[in-house]
Amino acid sequence: RKPAGAPDKALARPVTKVGVVGAGLMATQLAVLFLRRLRVPVVVSDLDQGRVDRALAGIHGEIDTLAAKRRVTPDEANRLHGLISGTTDQAAYADCSVVIEAVFEELEVKRAVFAELERHVSPEAVLATNTSSLSVAAMADGLAHPERVVGFHFFNPVAVLPLVEVVRAPRTDDATVATALELAKALKKNAVLVADAPGFVVNRVLLRFMGEVMAAVDEGTPVEVADAALAPLGLPMSTFTLLQLVGPAVALHVAETLHETLDPRFVVSPNLRALVEAGRPGLYDRRPDGTPYVSEETAAL
Ligand code: 3HC
Repeated sequence: RKPAGAPDKALARPVTKVGVVGAGLMATQLAVLFLRRLRVPVVVSDLDQGRVDRALAGIHGEIDTLAAKRRVTPDEANRLHGLISGTTDQAAYADCSVVIEAVFEELEVKRAVFAELERHVSPEAVLATNTSSLSVAAMADGLAHPERVVGFHFFNPVAVLPLVEVVRAPRTDDATVATALELAKALKKNAVLVADAPGFVVNRVLLRFMGEVMAAVDEGTPVEVADAALAPLGLPMSTFTLLQLVGPAVALHVAETLHETLDPRFVVSPNLRALVEAGRPGLYDRRPDGTPYVSEETAAL
């Protein structure tokens, strides 16, 4: 079904090559999705060659898994292996029809990525952002062609979750939106066309909900108890498992953005901040003696 407010699909431009900026979890999942569904060349990049190499290894591994699960034939898998490449040089994006950034969730970092990309891509190339909550308009601000910037927000795990939020900023033109919507269709995703508001739609709900569970922990309920207490709601995974999947640093960034730009009732959990600042990967982490970080952080607050 055509999303409400969608422009004429005849305006969509063909997608013959895709760039993915970043070599993290979302970037590699996106690269696999583009390869599998579009079967066009896909280039991933990062500033660090080691990260590019690790991302490429992960992507080749995912293609092998798809073949092992018989989701693609051995011939198709070979073709997909040949379509992926990696680089530290954004000049490799010169002939891309779409470049999506999935770098660190920091506005200035993303603005710098788009400014650099504009030096290499054609004026018609769509610049998409997988941002979770930052302003798409602010990312486009100052570019020569802000009309080709669009939000394209996927959910983790990308291969499984069917939704993509297509975010139209005030200056995004119809051809860009149409290209994004047709691309979502080719990727077999359900696109919703949403406004450029903090957290779009999904994250303003998700972060309120996760924030309240984390607040219960901040107020003294043990993590395991708060997590188990939500079981009757029948969610597909527990709150803290989901937090691990999203990544505590990403969750903290989104919570901070929504707290500052949307509503102070978005909880920025002191425990989550302490954990991220300590470089700890997850709330279920324990010290070598078996005591959880969170309980002790709570005691110290
Ligand atoms: N990465 C890739 N694939 C994964 C995965 C992961 N982390 N976890 C599971 N999968 C795949 C499995 O391989 C399996 O695929 P297959 O059918 O090809 O074998 C399929 O998902 C189903 O997995 P399982 O049968 O093991 O598990 P479940 O049926 O329990 O489903 C789940 C797992 C889909 C992850 C489900 O628990 C779920 O939907 N959880 C909620 C996830 C969610 O809410 N994500 C949104 C996060 S918010 C976000 O990303 C936005 C950001 O801006 C913050």
